[in-house]
Amino acid sequence: MAHKILVLNGPNLNMLGLREPTVYGHETLADVEKMCVEVGTGHGFDVECLQTNHEGVLIDRIHAARGTVAGIVINPGAWTHTSIAIHDALIAAEVPVLEVHISNVHKREEFRHHSYVSRVAVGVLAGFGTHGYKLAIDHFGKLLK
Ligand code: DQA
Repeated sequence: MAHKILVLNGPNLNMLGLREPTVYGHETLADVEKMCVEVGTGHGFDVECLQTNHEGVLIDRIHAARGTVAGIVINPGAWTHTSIAIHDALIAAEVPVLEVHISNVHKREEFRHHSYVSRVAVGVLAGFGTHGYKLAIDHFGKLLK
């Protein structure tokens, strides 16, 4: 059975392409998810993508990843900076996590500089645009070989 990679996107990322294109670019979420499936398939992964604006939905999906998913690529959006609940859920899942931010959060507002997710992530990609998702999946390609 192929390893499964879960690509999770948090709030407002459904607005990619429309939302602040100077910060997040012109690609849509559909473009990003398609690319993730292509890249993951190239590594022999089964890729599942989920975007939600509801924190509990994300937490439930993270819990269900326990024992069934080999790696999680997550852009938690603004929950990055606020959610101890997502931090706790990722620990409970016991699945390796790569955190992705399209923008370089460290050169933006102060409130974006702290991440609850980074504490539980294998690595963090920030500022690579949507290419960060590809880099994360490629890394799982190495890590989970
Ligand atoms: C983001 C950065 C967050 O600070 C912001 O709230 C987002 C997107 C990024 O991909 O750069 O929604 O995670």
